[in-house]
Amino acid sequence: MGQDGQKKYTDNEITESNIVFHDEFDAEIYDWKWGKMYGVGEMEKIVSDYRNYMGGELGKIEKYLDIGCGTGAAVVNLSLLDKIGEAHGSDISMGMLNMCRKNANSVGGKITLTLSDAQKLPYKDNTFDFITCHAILHHVPQPKTVMDEVYRLLKPGGKALVFEPTIYGTELTFKIMRYTWGIPYTIREWLKGKKPIWVVEEQYVNTLDSPVDVTTFHPKELRKIVADIPFSKATVTTYGFLSNFTKFFAHSIRNIKPIKFIFDKIIAILTCLDDGILKKVVPETLYFQAVIYVKK
Ligand SMILES: C[S@@+](CC[C@H](N)C(=O)[O-])C[C@H]1O[C@@H](n2cnc3c(N)ncnc32)[C@H](O)[C@@H]1O
Repeated sequence: MGQDGQKKYTDNEITESNIVFHDEFDAEIYDWKWGKMYGVGEMEKIVSDYRNYMGGELGKIEKYLDIGCGTGAAVVNLSLLDKIGEAHGSDISMGMLNMCRKNANSVGGKITLTLSDAQKLPYKDNTFDFITCHAILHHVPQPKTVMDEVYRLLKPGGKALVFEPTIYGTELTFKIMRYTWGIPYTIREWLKGKKPIWVVEEQYVNTLDSPVDVTTFHPKELRKIVADIPFSKATVTTYGFLSNFTKFFAHSIRNIKPIKFIFDKIIAILTCLDDGILKKVVPETLYFQAVIYVKK
């Protein structure tokens, strides 16, 4: 037990729970749960978001790495971009990597995958021009170690984008989601004799010996982590307030082909509002996601 009376888990126990959870539960449903899409259209959307987060073009990339690539939302889609030479993905779950390979095959993406822990990656120093890391730090017992690895693996002048759900923004989004589209979805599942996915997931996680999610970060904590690493540039900004709610409200229908363009337009307009006017009045912790942009 720690001083706060909470049970303490070893780093190995947390990592083991992550492997079991992602291999045996999450890999199968992950893309459905988060509405992940693969193809050139999705790649263009990701590149446009990255341009926004970096305040400029991605440029030509000889070697790209996605740490904790999961089913491949970033690495598979970005492998379709001409400007990228080699696209590498690493993850600790074989189940997630298998889905990633399947997704890459479905769109003709050329990727190299490695089974490895984000805290100790098997690549040489100064290897990559560009690194991404989406929603990994909260699963990892020593999150700073992952950022140290990002620094070690970037070539001098190389850039990285690291994404994390924020402490209050995430909570708010999921609460709103469950009381909006979650209600018809729950009724539908109930009529089929099933439980909603978040209940099934919570029950599954409770059968594990240690937690899968370790920390949810305040943007200030992320700023503290990167301040201790000698990046030549490091910023932490939050994104996705109203635009984010729309994404999640319309979660189950926004990717239906004939109406997708309507949601894409609405989300684009709300993103402008989020990044322009609302940023001045809404606390950063209520935005859904923190984005760390670093340069070596
Ligand atoms: C929320 S998913 C994110 C997947 C992907 N980056 C995305 O945004 O869709 C978290 C991923 O982190 C991986 N993971 C958890 N602990 C890890 C660790 N110690 N090292 C590498 N990957 C890890 C899981 O296997 C899972 O694929």
